[in-house]
Amino acid sequence: ARLVVLASGGGSNLAALLAAHDDAGYGARVVAVVTDTPQAGALELARDAGVASAVVEPRSFADRGEWDVALAETVSVFHADYVVSAGFMRILGPAFLARFGGRTVNTHPALLPAFPGAHGVRDALAYRVRVTGCTLHVVDAGVDTGPIIAQVAVPVEPDDDEATLHERIKTQERRLLVEWVGRIARGGLHVDGRDAVVGSDRT
Ligand code: GRF
Repeated sequence: ARLVVLASGGGSNLAALLAAHDDAGYGARVVAVVTDTPQAGALELARDAGVASAVVEPRSFADRGEWDVALAETVSVFHADYVVSAGFMRILGPAFLARFGGRTVNTHPALLPAFPGAHGVRDALAYRVRVTGCTLHVVDAGVDTGPIIAQVAVPVEPDDDEATLHERIKTQERRLLVEWVGRIARGGLHVDGRDAVVGSDRT
């Protein structure tokens, strides 16, 4: 399956997918990386891996709606079977979801529905939870609200700060992403209400 990865940051999740796609049996390969900023370290990873990339910056467009259309058109160029949002810090709008809804997944560094949004790690820490984690879900029109595909719990240590906790979460997040994107690529993804079913088995 052809994957387009959306990223905004350093791209450690992208790096994990790029490493996995070298394994012939994985069943998916990253055909392009699209970011919302030219500063994303993910762009360097793409270049080093010989993978196409594109930047679709919100400030280049009159409004969010035009940016959303441009993003959808940019991703369409690469004929993605699935889109993976890994550290992409923008909300995917109606034009994008009209084309890629149901086959776009997002990884979030908290156990949704707890701590959605851009500061899930910080919010969990501030709440003093003992366990947090990461979630792979199908993207819908809301913010981190789509049907859940898989989750992993991660313990919070007493001396954790946002950085140490996020790094512990990312270690599990990369494994969750690689495992489930591979399963989706090989077996398909079927969304039925709140159910996100991968392949023939119930997730
Ligand atoms: C990941 O934890 C992702 O879930 C969150 O931001 C982080 C991005 O990390 N939205 P990276 O850019 O993949 O290293």
